Amino acid sequence: MATTGSEKQGTKAYYVTTPIYYVNDAPHLGHAYTTVAGDVLTRWHRQRGEQVWYLTGTDEHGQKILRSADANGVSPQEWCDKLVDGAWKPLWEHLEIANDDFIRTTQKRHTERVQEFVQDLYDKGEIYKGGYEGPYCVGCEEYKLPGELLDGDGELAGQKLCPVHKKPVEILSEENYFFRLGEYGDKLLAHYEANPGFIQPESARNEVVNFVRQGLQDLSISRSTFDWGIPIPWDDKHVIYVWVDALLNYATAVGYNENPEKFESTFPADIHLVGKDILRFHAVIWPAMLMAQGLPLPRKIAANGWLMVGGEKMSKSNLTGIKPQDLTSHFGVDAYRWYFLRAIAFGQDGSFSWEDFSARYTSELANDYGNLASRVAAMVGKYFGGALPQAAADGEAEQAVHDGLAKAVTEADRKIGDELDFQGGILAVFNFIKQVNGYITEQEPWKVVKDDAEEGRARLATILYTAAESLRAIAVLLNPIMPETSQKVWASLGAEVSLGALADQRVQEAGEWGKLPTGSTVTKGAILFPRLEEKPSA
Ligand code: MSP
Repeated sequence: MATTGSEKQGTKAYYVTTPIYYVNDAPHLGHAYTTVAGDVLTRWHRQRGEQVWYLTGTDEHGQKILRSADANGVSPQEWCDKLVDGAWKPLWEHLEIANDDFIRTTQKRHTERVQEFVQDLYDKGEIYKGGYEGPYCVGCEEYKLPGELLDGDGELAGQKLCPVHKKPVEILSEENYFFRLGEYGDKLLAHYEANPGFIQPESARNEVVNFVRQGLQDLSISRSTFDWGIPIPWDDKHVIYVWVDALLNYATAVGYNENPEKFESTFPADIHLVGKDILRFHAVIWPAMLMAQGLPLPRKIAANGWLMVGGEKMSKSNLTGIKPQDLTSHFGVDAYRWYFLRAIAFGQDGSFSWEDFSARYTSELANDYGNLASRVAAMVGKYFGGALPQAAADGEAEQAVHDGLAKAVTEADRKIGDELDFQGGILAVFNFIKQVNGYITEQEPWKVVKDDAEEGRARLATILYTAAESLRAIAVLLNPIMPETSQKVWASLGAEVSLGALADQRVQEAGEWGKLPTGSTVTKGAILFPRLEEKPSA
C-alpha cells in the first residue's frame, strides 16, 4: 500500500472511498473495477495538487463470511486474515492502487467506535427493541420486501428468490433492535431535492427517490442467531447488523471519536464509489444514520454499473475462471487499469470480452500511443543525436496541435476530475494522440530532412519539438490511469531531469506549451505496449 496522502491542518482532504469488500472469497474483476476507478480519480486530484485521502478495506463480519469460514473448516477470523493478506492486499498492490489506508472491520479501531456510535443512537432514543419476521437474503445480507422477490422455476419452483442473487431467500424471525429509519424519509427527500448531485447518475438518483417516496420501514440493526459480529454494547446476546457495522467504516477509518483533527480534516467523504447493487444502503441508510447522529453527509454517492458476463452480473460463481491476474499477465497492469474505464461508460453496465480488450489494446495502445512514443524518440535520436531540438517557427499546423492539447486538457480535467466520466476523459486524451500522429504523418519529417539543408533542418526541429512536447503532456494526463507507462515516457523524454517528478506535474497545467526544455536528452526506451501473445487456451 502506498501512503501518498498527507494531512495538513486546516484543509479538508478530498476524501474518496470504495465499498469495503466481503472477504468470503478472493477479489474478482468487478471489485477491481470500482477500486481502479477510485484510484484513477484520487490520483487525478493529487495531480491537481489537492490533499487527498483514498480509503478501501474489507467487510469481515456477518453470516456470509461465517458460512464461508465454516465451509472451509477454519474460524472466521482466520479465514479473513488469510484472504486479506493472501488475496486482497496483494491484488491492490499488483494493480498499483495508491490507497492511503486499508480498514478491516475486525480491527479494534473500528469495532470500539461502532459500539460507541450505536450506543449513542440508543441513548438518544433512535434505537428500540422489536420483533421482525421476513425474507432474508444472505448474499445481500438484507431483509427483502415481499414485493421485490422473484418466483423460482424449474428446481426452484414454488420458492421465492432474491432479485440480485437469484437464490431462495430464508424466512428469518427474530427479536431485534431497530433504528427509526422510517422517520427519515422526508428529511432524505429534502436532502436529495436540495442537492441534485448527491446521487449520480441520474437514473440511480431517480431509483432512490422513488424508493424513499414509497415510505421507509424501520431498520433491524441487530442479529441474535449467530455471533460473528460486533456485540451490541448494552445487550451482548445480539451482534450489530453487518451493514450498520460496514457503513461506519467511512467514519471510523478517519478518526471518528478518536482523532478529532483527522476527522475534521477528512470527513465526510466527497465521493463514495459504490456498485449500483449497494446504492440504497449508501444513499438511504447511511445518510439517515449520520442525520441521527448530527454528522455531516457525504457530498456524493456515485454508483457504477456492473461488469456483466453472459448477460448476468459478474460474480464469484459466474466468472468463468477469469481473475484480474489472468488479464494483467497477458495485457499488463496499465492496460488493465485503462481498459475497463475506457470501454465502459461509468454508471452503465458493460460486458467484458477478451476479443474487445485485444482489439483496443492493439489499435489504441500499441498502434496509436506506443507508436507515437517510439517514433518520436527514434527520430530525435536519428536526426538530432537524442538532444531535443529547439522549435524554429510555429505555423498553422503547430497551432492546431497547441489548440488540440488545450482542449484535451480542459475536457479530461473536467470529465475525469469532476464528472467521473472516465471514458470521456480518456477519449479526449486519445483523440489528441491521434491528432499528433496525424500531424507527424502530414508533416512528413522523413521527407523534410531531405530538403534544402538549413530550412529543412529548422522545420524538422519544429515538428519533432511539437511531437515531443505533446508527448510530455500526454504522459502527465495519462499518469493517473497508466502510471508505469507514463513513467517510461517521462524517462524517455529526459523530463525527470528537466521538469522533476512526474507525480508533481499538475494535470490542469499540462497544456501550457513549451515546458519541455530544448536540449532534453531523449532516449528510446522499451516498447510501451508489446505485441500480444496468442490468447492462452482456457
Ligand atoms: N461489503 C459490502 C459493501 C459494504 S460498503 C460499506 C459488499 N461487498 S461486495 O464484496 O459484495 O462488493 C461490493 C462492490 O464490489 C460492489 O458494490 C461493486 O462496487 C463491486 N462489484 C462487485 N461485483 C461487481 C460487478 N460485477 N461489476 C461491477 N462492480 C462489482 O457489497
